[in-house]
Amino acid sequence: MTTITFKNDVNGKVAQMPVLEPTYGAPVVDIGKLAKEFGYFTYDPGFMSTASCQSTITYLDGDKGELMYRGYPIEQLAEQCNFLEVCYLLLYGELPNAEKKQIFETSITRHNRIRENLRRFFNGFNHDAHPMAMMMAVVSSLSAFFHDRLNIQDYEDRMVTARRLIAKMPTIAAACYKHSIGDPAIYPRDDLSYTGNLLYMMFSLPGKRYEVNPVAERAMDVLFTLHADHEQNASTSTVRLAGSSGTNPYAAIAAGIATLWGPAHGGANEAVIRMLDRIGEVSNIDHFIAKVKDKNSGVRLMGFGHRVYKSFDPRAKIIKEVCHQVLDSYGHDPRLDLAMRLEEIALSDPYFIERKLYPNVDFYSGIIYSTLKIPVEMFTVMFAIARTAGWISHWIEMITEKDQKIGRPRQLYVGASRRDVPPLNERN
Ligand code: ACO
Repeated sequence: MTTITFKNDVNGKVAQMPVLEPTYGAPVVDIGKLAKEFGYFTYDPGFMSTASCQSTITYLDGDKGELMYRGYPIEQLAEQCNFLEVCYLLLYGELPNAEKKQIFETSITRHNRIRENLRRFFNGFNHDAHPMAMMMAVVSSLSAFFHDRLNIQDYEDRMVTARRLIAKMPTIAAACYKHSIGDPAIYPRDDLSYTGNLLYMMFSLPGKRYEVNPVAERAMDVLFTLHADHEQNASTSTVRLAGSSGTNPYAAIAAGIATLWGPAHGGANEAVIRMLDRIGEVSNIDHFIAKVKDKNSGVRLMGFGHRVYKSFDPRAKIIKEVCHQVLDSYGHDPRLDLAMRLEEIALSDPYFIERKLYPNVDFYSGIIYSTLKIPVEMFTVMFAIARTAGWISHWIEMITEKDQKIGRPRQLYVGASRRDVPPLNERN
């Protein structure tokens, strides 16, 4: 076994730490015993050099621009599988055969309704509540409805919870949307596909016929596949950390939804559309790019850059293609011209080249959603539906780990030294 030697220059003490070999990626120094044997913690804000866990689910190579779920390249999954097959793959580790696929899809359909008293929760939210705020609250309240199947040590309880979550997310998402526009919530239909049902629940009205556009249905399905997992991103790490305390999976996933909401994570596609609308016209792009490059402006080119991908985001390539297909069916959106011009300029500008900033998954997804008449406030909700498959798969992997422990990082304390509490009249 390879080891790395740590040497303390002050007292000459030496500690040897094993190096763990991954299937792909950088070898990982196991520093688990460093504090005990050496008396030191490590310091790595933002986890720039730290693997927080072992995982068999997803691998991404940021330099090569590669993404694989359970070893399968994302390009093949997006082309040859539907989103529910990908959910099955993430959850069970293998792609389903025809029989397993049908059983899984039937189970998802069977669980797609939400209880009437849960539906009434929506009445408690103000009409202008952000859909992510509603989704976070409603998902965490699912634990109040299914506490009979919340034995996290039980395989069947874990799997039924996973299927329930995946099945109910579109119904909850559509109900959030309907509440925000004051329309009655629509019940799911068992004859529609996963994404067809979502579109139907969002856009149909009682008494009005609604036909699901197959181009929209397939585009959403591909987007969901691309967003289904992304190894140890902020929201997935949050789900793992929250779940490590033994809290129930609905609560852990509500924490993941909260994390996803931030603009540096899942909120980016919403930010891209707002940015494109602010730029307005191709003639304003040069001025905007100058602002992005001015460090004092605080302006970023949203939808560009990624913590891990330092060549290109493979999901962005697929999404750009889907974006063209959707616009061919729905008609042109001038924001696509803006986006393509921005991409062209950024990819030839030394500022972006030197910093390895390329379009990420969110650069084009917002244009697709907005063409499908999904409002910007709902973009992150769409992301949350898809990412639920990854979150719950990681939660299962974490909770079934041998010697699973609660996550408890250490810190570098730089606050005040010990001091005595002064009486009230002596304080400033
Ligand atoms: N526009 C302009 N400059 C940028 C951008 C951007 N979008 N992203 C990074 N930079 C610059 C930084 O200013 C910094 O420059 P410096 O070295 O001169 O100081 C350098 O590139 C490195 O940036 P960091 O913030 O250190 O990179 P990090 O890996 O921490 O950030 C992040 C990644 C948060 C995604 C960042 O690129 C960003 O803010 N992008 C825009 C938001 C976005 O699109 N997020 C979606 C990510 S994908 C997802 O979550 C699904």
